[in-house]
Amino acid sequence: MSAGVGNGNGGAPHSHRPLGILAALPQELGDLIEAMRAESGVRTITHGQRDYHLGTVHGAPCVVTLARVGKVAAAATVSALIHAFDVDAVVFTGVAGGVGAEVRVGDIVVADALLQHDLDASPLFPRFEVPLLGVSRFAADVALADQLAAACERFVAEAGAASAARFGTREPRVHRGLIISGDQFVASAAGVEALRAALPDALAVEMEGAAIAQVCHEYGVPCAVVRTISDTADDHAPASFVSFLTEIAGVYSNAILTRFLDTRGAAL
Ligand code: ADE
Repeated sequence: MSAGVGNGNGGAPHSHRPLGILAALPQELGDLIEAMRAESGVRTITHGQRDYHLGTVHGAPCVVTLARVGKVAAAATVSALIHAFDVDAVVFTGVAGGVGAEVRVGDIVVADALLQHDLDASPLFPRFEVPLLGVSRFAADVALADQLAAACERFVAEAGAASAARFGTREPRVHRGLIISGDQFVASAAGVEALRAALPDALAVEMEGAAIAQVCHEYGVPCAVVRTISDTADDHAPASFVSFLTEIAGVYSNAILTRFLDTRGAAL
C-alpha cells in the first residue's frame, strides 16, 4: 500500500526521492522535526501506528519518523519507509552502549557493518547468520557512511572540545566498524564481556540497527547508522543511558544531522 507520497514532490519535474531518517526515541532525533517545520512545513502521515513527517531539512527532502525500540519495531518502520514513502536511502541515528575497548561515553560510532548478536539458529545455521539469507554481517552503504562520518568529524573539529566541556565527557572520537543489535538492553559486566568474547571487533551495541540493515539489504536500499555512546553496557548502563538520553543525545544528533543534511541538500 502507498501513503500517496510517490516520488516525494507531487510528481513535479526534477523532484528527488526523500531520505528516510529514523531514531528509536524522540530524544535521539533532536530538533529535526522542528527544523523541518521552520524550513518547509511538515506534512504528517500516520501509518501502522507511526507518525511519518514529510518535508525538507537543510535543502534535503526527508521523511522523519520514530521506530520505537527493538528489532521488530525497527524492521516494520523501515519497511514502511521503503514501501509507503519511497525513500531512496535510510539513515538511523541514536545512542548505543560502547563495547570496543577504545569506545567511551560521548564517542560516536558510524557502522561499516551490522549484525544481530542474539540471532542463533545453530546447529542448523552458523551462529549470527540469518537463515536462508546466508548473511550475518550487513554492510552499510559506503558513500552514505562516509558522508555521515565526515559530518561527525566536522562536528568534533568545530565543537568537540566545547561539547566535552559542557557535558563533562572526553572530547568525542569517531569510530568506524561493527555495530551489533539485539532485543536486549545490555547492562552488566558479564553481558558486555560475553559480547566481546563472541564478537571481538564489535564497537557498540544497540537494539535496532542490524534489523534496519537487513531490511534495506533485502530491498536494495542504501542505509547507514550513526550512534553516540551513552553508556558502556555494564552495571552503570541504566543510569548513564538515562542521563545521556535526557541531556546530550539530542544535541549530538542535531550537530551531526545538520552537517550531514547540509552537504546532502547542497548536492541536490
Ligand atoms: N542503547 C544504548 N545503550 C544500550 C545498551 N547498553 N544495550 C542495548 N542498547 C543500548
